[in-house]
Amino acid sequence: MKILVTGGAGFIGSHLAEALVRRGHRVRVLDNLLSGRRENLRAVRADVEVVRGDCADPADARRAVRGVEVVFHEAAVPSVARSVADPALSHRANATATVEMLVAARDAGVRRFVYAGSSSVYGDLRGRAKREDMAPRPLSPYAVGKLMGEHYLRVFAELYGMETLTLRYFNVFGPRQDPGSPYSGVISLFTTAMLERRTPVIYGDGRQSRDFTYVDNVVDGNLRALRAKGLTGQAVNLATGRSVTLLVLLRALARRLGRQGRARMLAPRAGDVRHSLADVRLARRLLGYYPTVEFEDGLARTVDWYRQRARP
Ligand code: UD1
Repeated sequence: MKILVTGGAGFIGSHLAEALVRRGHRVRVLDNLLSGRRENLRAVRADVEVVRGDCADPADARRAVRGVEVVFHEAAVPSVARSVADPALSHRANATATVEMLVAARDAGVRRFVYAGSSSVYGDLRGRAKREDMAPRPLSPYAVGKLMGEHYLRVFAELYGMETLTLRYFNVFGPRQDPGSPYSGVISLFTTAMLERRTPVIYGDGRQSRDFTYVDNVVDGNLRALRAKGLTGQAVNLATGRSVTLLVLLRALARRLGRQGRARMLAPRAGDVRHSLADVRLARRLLGYYPTVEFEDGLARTVDWYRQRARP
């Protein structure tokens, strides 16, 4: 099958592109290479066509979908905190880019479109596990943009009969997650801080919790979405169904790295969600998905990767 992965040179996209190549698919990547890196595709370089371009640009989007059967739309500008600082940038990269990709896909006759959604759309809903039938209440521009993308996918299924699916990712982590910005994912920041003997920063009291999901689980969910039947614009959680607090995460990392688990405590970030935990039963029903890599295992693999990377 000919498949397009947008953001395919980035953290999640490159893992997905690699897995698709290994299963014999022909893969094209659309990436503006601002945060994505060609090096992330090193293992499959000869088998992936990389198109440099911007998903929010209609001409780039059109060029990228030509001859493609399925699109995995992973490109985004992530980070809740960054979107609070620059809502318009976040909107363009998340909402506008998604509708432009959908339009290009519709015009090119793309059959299936799978979208990287986000757990942030739930906001701070009461009750423990977040279920897909709960009404979303985004708390940040990032979450608003991600939710708009979901609505577009459902409407494109209804209006044009495109097979669409949103996978709501919950705090994905793993090798290749870039720790290079203050807006990077917390696991990448904590791990590299400890490796470099700096003190990690916790925003708030550290008792906020997340359903941290190792990247292989997310790749597995996407591969299942390639084969699943009855895709009509649903939104489905992709996570582990377990959560830990930042304090527990910090201790787990300190143990693995033989460091003290101390952190500098700063004020909570605006737009931050307090607790995030997924109910993963719909993913099981619709996709046959089970998380295969547990948090601790994923953490061990991730720490190993950052350790190797730190070695001169
Ligand atoms: C949110 C989404 C997630 C999405 C991600 C994209 C939720 C629940 N999750 O993640 O699905 O993939 O955006 O960016 O909305 N923190 C620190 N110290 C740091 C960095 C972060 O204490 O140095 C804290 C944050 O304030 C937050 C937690 O760690 O409470 C996790 O932050 P981060 O990794 O940025 O992800 P979310 O904002 O939870």
